[in-house]
Amino acid sequence: MRTDPNTFTLAARVLHWLMAVLIVAMLFIGVGMVASVSERHAWLLAIHKPLGIAILILAIVRLAVRLRHPPPPLPADLPAIQKLAALASHWLLYVLMLAMPLIGWAMLSAGGYPVMLGTSLRLPPIFPTNAVAFAVLRHLHGGFAMLLFLTFLAHMAAALYHGLIRRDGVLPSMLRGVKTAPPLEHVDPS
Ligand code: HEM
Repeated sequence: MRTDPNTFTLAARVLHWLMAVLIVAMLFIGVGMVASVSERHAWLLAIHKPLGIAILILAIVRLAVRLRHPPPPLPADLPAIQKLAALASHWLLYVLMLAMPLIGWAMLSAGGYPVMLGTSLRLPPIFPTNAVAFAVLRHLHGGFAMLLFLTFLAHMAAALYHGLIRRDGVLPSMLRGVKTAPPLEHVDPS
C-alpha cells in the first residue's frame, strides 16, 4: 500500500504516543523501584519487567515501520545543524528503546534471576550467570536510563520549539498526521 511520503503513517503516530507514555512511566517506575525498600519494590518490579519486554517488542515493530515508511522531510529552511541534531537524537532514541530492555533482561540473566512475565511465563536467560557482568549491566541500565531521560527532555524541548516558536508544522505532523508546512516565501520589503 502506498502512503503519502510527506506525512507520518497512522501506525508511526500510534506507536510514537503509546511508547512515549510507556517509556516515561517506566523511567518513573524504575526510579520508584530502586528508591523503595518496602514490599512496593517487588510490586513495582513485577510491573517493570513485562512492561519493559512490551517496550522491546513495540520498539522492534516501530523500527520496522520506520524503515518501511521513512518520516516526512524536516522543513527545508531548518538549519543543517538542527537537522543533524534531530537525526542523531532520533536514532539515539531508537538505540536506547532497544538497549534498555535488552540490558535489563541480560542483567537479570547474569544475576541468575528469573525473568517472569506474569506468574507462569518465564523468559529464557540471554546472558550467562556472572556476578561481575551483573554489576556492570546494573550500572549500564541506570546510566542508560539517565541518558534516555535527558534525550527525552531534549526531544520534548525541540518539539515545543517547532510547535510554539517556529510553528513550522512539525508538531502537528506527529499529533494529527498533517503535512509539514512548506518554508515561508522570502518577502522582499522593498
Ligand atoms: C524501556 C525499558 C526500560 C526502562 C526505561 C527502564 C528503566 C529503569 C530505571 C530508570 C531503573 C532505575 C535505575 C537506577 O536508578 O539505578 C531501572 C532499574 C531496573 N530495571 Fe529497568 N527499565 C527498562 C526495562 C527493563 C527490563 C526489560 C527489565 C527486566 C526484564 C528491567 C529490570 C530492571 C531491574 C531488575 C532494575 C533494578 C531494580 C533494583 O535494583 O531494585 N528493566 N530500570
